[in-house]
Amino acid sequence: MTDISGYSCRVCGGKVAEFVDLGQQPTANGFLLPHEADDVFLFRLAVGACEDCALVQLLDEVPQEFRYHANYRYHASGSASHRKHFQGNAEHFLRTELTGPDPFIVEIGCNDGVMLGTIAAAGVRHLGVEPSTNVAEIAEAKGVRVLRQFFDEQTATAIRAEHGPADVVFGANTICHIAHIGSVLRGLDTLLTPNGIFVFEEPYLGTLIDGMAFDQIYDEHVFYFSVTSVRNMAEQYGLELVDAEHIPMHGGEIRYTLARAGARTPKPAVAQLLADEQARGLSDPETLAQFGHRVEKIREDLLALLNDLKAKGKTVVGYGAPAKCTTVTNYCGIGTDLVPFVVDSTPAKQDHLVPGANLPVRPPSEFTDAYPDYALLFAWNHAKEIMANEEAFRASGGQWIVYVPEVHIR
Ligand code: SAM
Ligand code: TMP
Ligand code: ZN
Repeated sequence: MTDISGYSCRVCGGKVAEFVDLGQQPTANGFLLPHEADDVFLFRLAVGACEDCALVQLLDEVPQEFRYHANYRYHASGSASHRKHFQGNAEHFLRTELTGPDPFIVEIGCNDGVMLGTIAAAGVRHLGVEPSTNVAEIAEAKGVRVLRQFFDEQTATAIRAEHGPADVVFGANTICHIAHIGSVLRGLDTLLTPNGIFVFEEPYLGTLIDGMAFDQIYDEHVFYFSVTSVRNMAEQYGLELVDAEHIPMHGGEIRYTLARAGARTPKPAVAQLLADEQARGLSDPETLAQFGHRVEKIREDLLALLNDLKAKGKTVVGYGAPAKCTTVTNYCGIGTDLVPFVVDSTPAKQDHLVPGANLPVRPPSEFTDAYPDYALLFAWNHAKEIMANEEAFRASGGQWIVYVPEVHIR
C-alpha cells in the first residue's frame, strides 16, 4: 500500500509511522569553523517504522552528496579493534567464498581499505566502491582498487560488464546509510554469481532500543535494521536472508547474509532471531512509542541536571565530540551557557564547533589542565577506556554525567 498523505517506506512504499522527533538538526559530522556557524544546513531528524515491512527509517533525509565527499571524516582504520575485525572478515572470505579459480569480491563503502587491504595483499580480484575521495585515496595507497562512485543499480551493471559477476558483495556500516537501498538490491541481482552472497554488518535496532542510544540517530543513519525488516526487504528483491549473527562491533551489530532465493539453505539462526524479535515485540508500535517517550524523559532530566549544576555554580565540560554529540546537544538545546566547551582527541575536530549547538571543541589538555566539577560524557561508548585514562579527574573530586540508558552520575 502506498501512502500519499505522509511518509512512504523507501523499500515497499507502505506507510511510515513516526515514533521519535529529534528536531531540526545539522549533519552530525559537519564540524564547523567559527565563521561558518551561521550558515549551517538543518533538516528535521525524525524516525518512523513502516507499517507493512517493519523497516525503521529516517523520515527526511540529507542528499548523499552533502554527507559523502572529499572531506569525509570517518576513517575506519583509526581503531585497532576495527582493523582486527575487518582483517578477520577478509581472511574468512578468503578461506570460504573466494576459493574458486578466479574469485571476485566487491565492497560497498570500502572507506580507507580497512577490509580490502587484506584481500589486495592476498592478490585476489576485488573492487571497492567509495564516493568519499579522501578515504578512497588512502585505500588506493594500500593497493586497493577503487571505483570512486556511489553504489547503485547503474554502478552494479557497469561493474558486471567490466569485471564479471561477484562471488561476494560486502558492506559494513554503509548499507544503512544508503537511502536508495532498492537500487542497491536490484544491483545485486545484476552483480552476484548464481550462488553469490551479499554480506553486510550494520547497527541493530534491538541494541539502539535496549541501550536508549537515541544519539546514534543522525543524518547518515537512514535505516535502523532488524532481522525481521531485513528478511522482508530481501524477499521484495528475489533475495533470501540465509544467515544472521550478532557481532560485538559498535556496541552490538548484526551481520546479515543474503543469497538468491532458494540458492542456499538458511541457517537455523535466522528463524531463532526472528522468533526472538517477535517474542520481545521489537517492531511493535508500543515498543517504539515507549522508546520515543524515554528519549523525551532523557532530555528533561539532562536539562534539569545541567540547569541545577549551573545554578549551584558548578562547572561542566563535554568529553568527546562524536557525531552523537551533535544529536544530543541539538535535541536538548545544550549551548555554551550550560557546557562551555567539549574536549576531543581528534586534531581535525579541534578549533571547530559542534554543528548547530556551536560548542567549541578543544584539545584534551584543556580538561586535564583545569578539571571541571563534572564531565558530560558524549563518547559514552568508550566509557571504560576514558574513565580509566582519566582517573585523576575522579581523584580531584570530578564526576561523570552519563545520559544513556538514563541520566545518571558516576
Ligand atoms: N566500511 C567501513 C567501516 O565499517 O568502518 C566504513 C563505514 S563509513 C561509516 C561509510 C562509508 O560508506 C563511507 O566511506 C561513505 O563514503 C560510504 N558510502 C556512503 N554511501 C555509499 C554508496 N552509495 N556506495 C558506496 N559507498 C558509500
Ligand atoms: P566514536 O564514538 O564515533 O568512536 O567517536 C568517539 C569520539 O571521542 C572521537 O571524536 C574521539 C573522541 N575520544 C576522545 O576524545 N578521547 C578518548 O579517549 C576516546 C576513546 C575518544
Ligand atoms: Zn516498508
